[in-house]
Amino acid sequence: MKTVNVRLPGRGYPILIQAGSLDDAGRRVRRACAPDRLFIITDATVGSLYGDRLLDAFRRSGITASLHAVPAGENSKSWRILQDLYTRLIESGLTRDSCVAALGGGVVGDLAGFAAATYLRGIAWVQIPTTLLAQVDSSVGGKTGINHELGKNLIGSFHQPRLVLMDPSVLTTLEKREYWAGMSEVVKYGLIRSEPFFAWLESKWEGLGDPANAGLIEQMVTVCCRIKADVVRRDEKESGLRRILNFGHTLGHALESATEYGLFRHGEAVLHGMRFAAWLSMKREHLKPDAYQRIDDLLKRFPAPPVPNGLDGATLYEHMRTDKKRTGQGLRFILLKGIGKAFTEIPDHPARHLEEWLTNAR
Ligand SMILES: NC(=O)c1ccc[n+]([C@@H]2O[C@H](COP(=O)([O-])OP(=O)(O)OC[C@H]3O[C@@H](n4cnc5c(N)ncnc54)[C@H](O)[C@@H]3O)[C@@H](O)[C@H]2O)c1
Ligand SMILES: [Zn+2]
Repeated sequence: MKTVNVRLPGRGYPILIQAGSLDDAGRRVRRACAPDRLFIITDATVGSLYGDRLLDAFRRSGITASLHAVPAGENSKSWRILQDLYTRLIESGLTRDSCVAALGGGVVGDLAGFAAATYLRGIAWVQIPTTLLAQVDSSVGGKTGINHELGKNLIGSFHQPRLVLMDPSVLTTLEKREYWAGMSEVVKYGLIRSEPFFAWLESKWEGLGDPANAGLIEQMVTVCCRIKADVVRRDEKESGLRRILNFGHTLGHALESATEYGLFRHGEAVLHGMRFAAWLSMKREHLKPDAYQRIDDLLKRFPAPPVPNGLDGATLYEHMRTDKKRTGQGLRFILLKGIGKAFTEIPDHPARHLEEWLTNAR
């Protein structure tokens, strides 16, 4: 069992990482929050794979548990689904001493976390993330929320869970494409914060492609959680340092919205975004060409749809600006001055560099 302690002012909670730990959830949750009853929120796919096992684990520990599955997919991060969830929580008699468990990917985590943050002005919750993206990214940091028809993640709050329980062996049932989408966030941590981790990823690359390699995956997930937890601890509400977690996301988000969220998984769009950010870092002479090459060599090994030929720099630039207007940030980029060394900059002529990258490097 590997443990990463997320330390925040006045409170903190553990992330426990171990293959097979799903069956131990009852004992762990009892220790973390001893709820009078527990309500599992999952999606239909994950629920049918792991719902009974988890219910069983809670029952064995004497915890009264029920389960509700929302449809799988991003559309469940909606007001309608959330309202329906509130109804179920009320009907199930959940009190301030109860606990919500989010079993699923980032969609379920964000939705269930927000329900827990707002029901009775906030009750305890635990996360049991089941996608690679959720294990290395969305379950660490306490951001919860839903989408609005005018934009993604516009409604939400910070609500830290009591416990995050990760069982990397559930990743074996994940679609390959989802797994690789999560891998791009994994590489991101090496790029922004740790050269040794990036070098480790390079050396273990073949093995890391197969989630059945439990030991390796456990190690990988642990380092990612450690890095994200450290960044979040230093900047819980995203005023400065936490922005480096958006490495690759400026162009990534633009690619997602320019293709109407239909072509790329989030991680695939971020993959292109990271390649461009590394290129921009080199063009602006922050990053040495050999480091750039090392980064691009690894990122090129990812399976992902290419940037469509019809998408030009001007269009993507417009999408980047609209996205930033919405989030209230300037068009700043996260760049690298070396592998593991991220910083933020508002570069001159980003659209021109983007056009050049699209022609030369994609
Ligand atoms: N809160 C945060 O800090 C944060 C950070 C990054 C992303 N997010 C959010 O996360 C969401 C994306 O999360 P995601 O990529 O995990 O998507 P997801 O939750 O939709 O999961 C992807 C798909 O995989 C299926 N699945 C999940 N676990 C499985 C398993 N073990 N075996 C088989 N199938 C499984 C799901 O049913 C779903 O169809 C977005 O809404 C994004 O906004 C939040
Ligand atoms: Zn991301």
